Amino acid sequence: MIWREGMLTPEQIERFSADGAVTVDSPFTETELTAAAAAIRRVLPEGNTGTWGGVEMRRDSRDCCLDEELTTLVQHPFLEALACSALGVERVAVHAMAAARSFPFPGGRPGFWEHIDLAYRLSDLEARPRRMVCSCVVWLTDVTPERAPLMFRPGSHRLIAAHRERDPAAIGEGQSWMSALPSLPFAAPVPMLARRGQVSVLTTAAIHGASVNLDTQDRLCIFVPMFPVGVPLSAHIRSELERYSPYHRALLPLLRPERRHLVTAPLPEVAVNPAVVG
Ligand SMILES: [Fe+2]
Repeated sequence: MIWREGMLTPEQIERFSADGAVTVDSPFTETELTAAAAAIRRVLPEGNTGTWGGVEMRRDSRDCCLDEELTTLVQHPFLEALACSALGVERVAVHAMAAARSFPFPGGRPGFWEHIDLAYRLSDLEARPRRMVCSCVVWLTDVTPERAPLMFRPGSHRLIAAHRERDPAAIGEGQSWMSALPSLPFAAPVPMLARRGQVSVLTTAAIHGASVNLDTQDRLCIFVPMFPVGVPLSAHIRSELERYSPYHRALLPLLRPERRHLVTAPLPEVAVNPAVVG
C-alpha cells in the first residue's frame, strides 16, 4: 500500500482486526474540534428521553449533516488514511455520517443496549482488501466511564462472522439486536473511553451500543463510516449506499476539489459472487 500520513500501525491494524476497534490520537486542531462540537450542539439542541434496548436514555442523533464544521472533519485526509489502512485498500469513500449527542441524565439508571448494525462472513473480514465498512468515530468531548461511553464486546464481530460462514442464514446482513443473536462465547462488554480529539476506528459488526450518560456534561461525536472502493460488497451494504445517495450528491459540491474522490459516482456495482466468497 502507498503510505500516507495517519495510517494505523501494523499493531493497531491487528487490534482493529482482532477486537473490532482501536482508538488513536488525531491531528485535528483545537479550532476544528471546538467548531465541530458547537455545530453538533446547534444541530441537536435538545435530547429525547426514550428507551433503547429497554434502557432509558437522553440522547439525539442526526444523519447526513452537511454543516461546514462537520464536513471539515468528514473530508479530512486523516480519516481517509485510517480507513484505508484498517481495510487494507488504496481508496475509500464516505458511506454516510451521523452526529450524536448524549445528554446528562444523572437521574437515570446505569445501563446500555447492545446490537450489531452489519454482519459479515469471516472470509469478508480476512480478505485483503477487507470486504467491509469501517467507521471512524471522532470524539468531540472526553469519554469517561460515566459520560455515555459506547459499550463494545471485543472480538464479537469475528465470532458472528465465523458463525455466518458456517450458516449464512443464521444471522442477517443488517441490524440485529443482541437478543436475536445466537448464543456464542462473547467477551464481556467494555466501555470505549477516549480523550477529546481522539478517533476510534471500529466495525459496527461487533456488538456495541449506547450507554446512559451519568455525568454532568454532554458527550459528542461524529460517526463517519467508509467503504472500500472497487471491492465486492454485500447486498445489504450496497442497498445502504443507495439509500444514502442523496447525501452523497449533496456532500460532493461541499468538498474541497482535491477531496471529491471521497464520494464515488456511480456506486460500486460489483456484486458478491458466492462462489468467490465461499
Ligand atoms: Fe449501532
